[in-house]
Amino acid sequence: GDNGDNGDDEKTSSDGKDDSDTGKILIGSDIPYKPFEYRTADGSLEGFDPGIAEAIFKGQLDREYEFKKAGFDTIIDSLKNKNFRLIMSAMTITDKRAEKVDFSDPYFTAYQTVAIRKGGGIEKLDDLKGKTVAVQKGTTGESAAEKVKEDFGGSLTIHSYDQIAGAFNALRNQQAVAVINDNTVNAEFVNKMDGVVFLEGEGEAAKQGKNAPDYLTLTIEEYGIAFRKDDDDLRKQVNEAIKAIKDDGTYDKIYDKYFEG
Ligand code: ARG
Repeated sequence: GDNGDNGDDEKTSSDGKDDSDTGKILIGSDIPYKPFEYRTADGSLEGFDPGIAEAIFKGQLDREYEFKKAGFDTIIDSLKNKNFRLIMSAMTITDKRAEKVDFSDPYFTAYQTVAIRKGGGIEKLDDLKGKTVAVQKGTTGESAAEKVKEDFGGSLTIHSYDQIAGAFNALRNQQAVAVINDNTVNAEFVNKMDGVVFLEGEGEAAKQGKNAPDYLTLTIEEYGIAFRKDDDDLRKQVNEAIKAIKDDGTYDKIYDKYFEG
């Protein structure tokens, strides 16, 4: 058809992987990371990020867009290689990442939390000393685990998995005593996996913020949409769109669908 077949004379978008300013916006995301991005049984993409993407690109900017699967650990390199135009992947804004990409304004608050097996002998953070924890590779969960390890004088083993499901398999198979990961995603596993619970305790969050958990939190984080450093025009449009959907109630509707529904 006329669509999707990039002729050899079409040189407008580097090597044809990325969109040009008139094309479809490709969005890199590590899927599944429920409730932020996942596929339903019939294969359709669901989640908070696709919901926000629809509100921004379809609702506000009138642009076509499409999600493209990417590994989280290499997702920033993939963005720089123009495999997609931007990243929406429950990605936390960090100083280190901001050296390589520019972030939109924050669009979600999250907390690092610790999921454990009930009755597995872990009752407080200190009980992790000398044990093995599981994380997703390249995430702020991994950084939080590294910080705990440092606090323990090195007495912690960290196993990093390409996807978050791998970390929870390790917890179930007793290859790890805990998973350190974003609170709302851990909540999905706590709800569906028998005998998996949150580690209790006070923490960074200590009841701040809209969905601040009442179990142990190791960090407070903000998610942002990541862009290449040369992409200020689109980034500014997206920031205006985020503001618009917060002001007109669209954001709250999407929020309630995934977090209070
Ligand atoms: N918020 C965490 C981070 O930025 C985890 C994000 C993982 N996202 C994903 N789609 N797997 O590192």
